Amino acid sequence: MDYIEIYKEEFELVRSRLGPARLKHSLGVAETAQQLAEKYGADPAEAYLAGICHDIAKELPRAEQLALLQKSPLADDAEILQHKQLWHAPAGAVLLAELQEHYPRLNEAVQGACLWHTLGRPAMTLLESLVFVADLIEPGRDFPDLPPIRQAVWQDLTSGICACMQGVIGFLESEGNFVHPLAYEAWAYYKKGQ
Ligand SMILES: [Fe+2]
Ligand SMILES: [Fe+2]
Repeated sequence: MDYIEIYKEEFELVRSRLGPARLKHSLGVAETAQQLAEKYGADPAEAYLAGICHDIAKELPRAEQLALLQKSPLADDAEILQHKQLWHAPAGAVLLAELQEHYPRLNEAVQGACLWHTLGRPAMTLLESLVFVADLIEPGRDFPDLPPIRQAVWQDLTSGICACMQGVIGFLESEGNFVHPLAYEAWAYYKKGQ
């Protein structure tokens, strides 16, 4: 199935907002999410679309990201406000919701996958989980701990989510960077479920 043909219009929305490198990443996430959906029983087409859209706000000017974030349910989260790298996920979800009027396939499920793709959260939907892990393991990614993380994702989704969270949080901690409390909460949730 040629998903890029099915979602031509939505892809244009993303293509006009992202440079070539991030567009390639988005296509990698889309294909990975679609393949994972086939394995784990989600809708492959919807997973592909969510993958395409997950970083739609990442290259918008900061002021635009902030204006969108202020309309998000996470607008009152002081820690998100303080950390600009966390803005694009809630901002993207709001942007997708605004576009939904003319592009009805950008539905709440797709918006949710965009909203939670960076932090994760406890009890993600299947679609949210697939985009969360696909963002980290898509073919364009390369870092030393990636092979076992990829393997975990394809073996068992919960273990895979844990491995992704451990990888991301461990990396942020080792660099002395901020980790949002929700990311720790989500990790604890999935560790218990393993
Ligand atoms: Fe992102
Ligand atoms: Fe991404």
